[in-house]
Amino acid sequence: MNTLCIGLAGSILGLGFLTVASAADPKPEDAVRYRQSVYTVIGWNFKPIGAMMKGEIPFDAAAVARHAQYVEMMSKTAIEGFPKGSGPDAVKNTEAKPEIWTDWNQFETKMTDFQQEAAKLVEVAKGGDQGAIKAQFGKTAETCKACHKEFRKD
Ligand code: HEC
Repeated sequence: MNTLCIGLAGSILGLGFLTVASAADPKPEDAVRYRQSVYTVIGWNFKPIGAMMKGEIPFDAAAVARHAQYVEMMSKTAIEGFPKGSGPDAVKNTEAKPEIWTDWNQFETKMTDFQQEAAKLVEVAKGGDQGAIKAQFGKTAETCKACHKEFRKD
């Protein structure tokens, strides 16, 4: 009876471990697909805010607030898409530069800057003030550019 229980617990734990192991150790091409998807969602939501700020489409405070929330949410998970060994030497269809992994602290700092500005954009967007949103949109966009300049192939 006891042995059976331990055996069962062991297999359940074993299965759990397998699941964790595969999630923590993704295939390089899956990591690339994940991060490109995350950035696709970020771009999808960031672009219309930019278009509103340029006056290309009408300003809509509720839409800005919603898009900003998606950008912020995705900013928190983007880093997970860059496990070691998922650089251009392992995967062809990536624009990630090898410097991400040789200069990881710098990359992480750029990611944190982005997260902070995206979080502020969510706050400012709630206020609905177009001028303040424009200023904070600009600051957030700077963090995209700063990282792309150093860590993404053009
Ligand atoms: C800390 C670094 C970093 C920040 C911050 C960042 N990006 Fe990127 N971005 C990357 C890297 C690296 C890639 C290339 C990923 C790949 O191809 O593997 C990328 C790719 C993209 C792509 C292309 C996705 C695809 O389908 O291949 C878009 C769009 C994008 N980023 C938009 C943005 C926007 C908009 C922001 C800011 C709101 C932003 N990024 C902030 C590093 C960053």
